[in-house]
Amino acid sequence: MKITAISIFPEYFAPLELSLIGKAREHKIVDFKAVNLRDYTYDNHHTVDDTPYGGGAGMVMKPEPWGEAIDAVIDKSDQLIDLVILTPAGKQFNQRVAEEFSNSAHLLFACGRYEGIDARVADFYRSAKNVRVHEISIGDYVLNGGEVAAMVIIEAVTRLIPGVIGNPDSLAEESHNELGSVEYPSYTKPALWRGHAVPEILLSGNHGEIAKWRTTQGKLRSKGEPHK
Ligand code: ADE
Repeated sequence: MKITAISIFPEYFAPLELSLIGKAREHKIVDFKAVNLRDYTYDNHHTVDDTPYGGGAGMVMKPEPWGEAIDAVIDKSDQLIDLVILTPAGKQFNQRVAEEFSNSAHLLFACGRYEGIDARVADFYRSAKNVRVHEISIGDYVLNGGEVAAMVIIEAVTRLIPGVIGNPDSLAEESHNELGSVEYPSYTKPALWRGHAVPEILLSGNHGEIAKWRTTQGKLRSKGEPHK
């Protein structure tokens, strides 16, 4: 899978060198590239923002550098590109969307700053061939920019690609695979720690009962209740 992130802070993506994603890059399962939006400006100040039409606080990102930067990525590709525009106004990211994105040949993240990217950029690429546009939010809160949101999505998506995670069983078992249930609580040795014992059922060896218990506990947790 190809992943490209366009940003005015490409250095933000340095942690992708680490851990699982780093391994996926080493083994050429994921090919990641960060692009500096300012490389697609032509004035001395490398301007990427301007005041909003209609007035209001803050600055809006100009469409021209975005158009040029995205075109440069598209021109180099003969694959269908999923253009992911990060915005708090987008569709909420979740495990289903992660699964959908994990089938993409090329994810292109547009990481806006300030009050966002001129809305015509999304409109323009919606009618471009070889591009699917997704406006995505990672939650109901406002970040300073899309970089951290892109990192969250990259981590959630790349771990679903075969070969990225050591043990594929751990993916299959994740209860987010079933809508509405979150993972059950996990325990390891010692069986008694600071007066807290591991639930007896887990020591019983009864796999049927253990599976039932885990489902119930997962459901409690997904309602925000502590496990029992
Ligand atoms: N940019 C600013 N806030 C964001 C959010 N919650 N999700 C995605 N991109 C954003």
